[in-house]
Amino acid sequence: AKITFIQHNGTEQTVDGQAGMTVMETAVKNMVPGIDADCGGACACATCHVYVEPGWLEKTGPRNPMEEDMLDFAFDVRDESRLSCQIKVSDVLDGLRVRVPEKQF
Ligand code: FES
Repeated sequence: AKITFIQHNGTEQTVDGQAGMTVMETAVKNMVPGIDADCGGACACATCHVYVEPGWLEKTGPRNPMEEDMLDFAFDVRDESRLSCQIKVSDVLDGLRVRVPEKQF
């Protein structure tokens, strides 16, 4: 599945995400800047925070309760905020666009 990461300055990077991997792992593997993922995907750091672009929120699904708690620690949380380690890549998400926040924390 193709996933596009949009940086705060508008730079876009489209990478190939493997089904079963998380969006965070996809970003790290492709060295997408701005996804720190300090905890390695354990939903314990909130430095993999992204904004899901309009139109994709339904497909990425709702936040899970642990993620909800962790997002309290993220910078500039919005309705479309997700922790990218909690979004699993699948064919349904082919074309997904997420925005990287200005900073993590
Ligand atoms: Fe730490 Fe997602 S990588 S919360």
